[in-house]
Amino acid sequence: MPKAKLLIGLLVGLVLFGAFVFFVGSAWFGLPVGAQGPEQPIAYPHTTHAGSVESGGLGLDCTFCHRNVDKGPAATIPSVEQCMFCHSKIGGTTDRGQTEIAKLRAAFESGEGVKWIRVHRLPDHVQFVHDAHVRFLMVNPDKIVNSTPSIGLDGSVNAAQVCSTCHGQIAAMAKVKQIRALKMGDCVDCHRANNGPTDCTACHY
Ligand code: HEC
Ligand code: HEC
Ligand code: HEC
Ligand code: HEC
Ligand code: HEC
Repeated sequence: MPKAKLLIGLLVGLVLFGAFVFFVGSAWFGLPVGAQGPEQPIAYPHTTHAGSVESGGLGLDCTFCHRNVDKGPAATIPSVEQCMFCHSKIGGTTDRGQTEIAKLRAAFESGEGVKWIRVHRLPDHVQFVHDAHVRFLMVNPDKIVNSTPSIGLDGSVNAAQVCSTCHGQIAAMAKVKQIRALKMGDCVDCHRANNGPTDCTACHY
């Protein structure tokens, strides 16, 4: 019996130690690999809407919905009214699509909107601003990651071509998940390399 107890004790210890390593590791280095995005109240697929026309999507621009992303701190999520611009008429062609669009219409009719679950969320003591980053990447296209931006004749890059640097290929995700750690080390490394602010008060309140 004492032997069994010892074994259980060892196992419990091992599990606790593992949990500790996991917790510290994820706090400092980022997300556990392969983490899934949250289940949303409506299964809104970026693939259908933002995916390229060649891949069967509508090819909508990221800034068509995330309207504030190059204008202020928050990218913002579109209101149900914006979705209804199309979905008052478009009801879906598959069973699954029709079920999800019915939820959207119900959210519009009740006036309650959709309570989307945040995927990316920095702690409250940290501030992040989208506009400065979007502008920086638009004028420094060589710093864009995960994308091959097509540069306009005047050398300009579209705002939507820079998002992949931090968010990956959202247009190819049926369900959004976080792909980059976006922890302090990640932010500071990029700031050091690109003359961004590195004083504590730049990012902390
Ligand atoms: C038709 C509107 C629409 C378009 C176009 C669109 N999005 Fe979204 N996006 C949404 C909605 C609605 C959500 C919230 C639900 C979700 O997370 O899937 C969202 C969520 C996100 C999130 C996660 C936000 C969070 O909670 O952290 C990111 C990142 C994002 N979009 C980036 C993009 C990028 C990049 C593009 C262009 C490739 C794009 N979106 C195009 C509507 C849109
Ligand atoms: C520019 C028009 C347009 C806008 C704006 C738009 N959609 Fe769609 N959406 C479509 C089209 C087209 C389809 C494909 C319908 C089909 O199956 O033929 C679709 C499909 C869908 C589906 C079903 C996907 C599936 O699994 O088949 C959902 C859910 C959906 N949209 C949610 C949203 C939400 C939420 C918003 C607002 C954030 C939104 N849409 C904004 C045009 C739009
Ligand atoms: C330099 C990295 C970076 C780039 C580039 C970037 N984002 Fe983000 N994004 C973040 C971070 C960090 C958060 C979480 C912010 C927070 O919690 O305050 C976020 C949150 C979001 C959110 C949810 C919260 C919100 O602000 O509404 C959306 C939607 C989003 N990003 C869309 C986009 C789109 C679209 C683009 C491209 C036009 C883009 N992002 C470019 C880092 C980035
Ligand atoms: C791709 C590289 C890159 C990443 C990743 C990045 N930044 Fe930045 N950031 C910059 C650069 C470059 C500037 C300076 C932009 C300028 O001066 O116009 C900047 C500026 C800022 C500013 C100041 C904006 C202003 O109003 O002057 C804040 C705050 C900030 N970043 C926070 C963050 C946080 C928090 C993260 C991590 C979640 C982060 N950044 C990740 C490159 C990056
Ligand atoms: C470029 C942006 C940036 C700068 C500059 C920055 N931080 Fe941070 N810091 C962050 C982010 C993002 C987090 C949140 C990491 C996370 O999600 O756990 C953070 C978290 C922290 C935490 C909490 C630790 C934790 O793991 O939760 C402390 C303490 C901290 N920072 C102190 C500092 C001090 C002191 C300085 C100046 C020497 C500084 N930071 C400069 C972005 C920054």
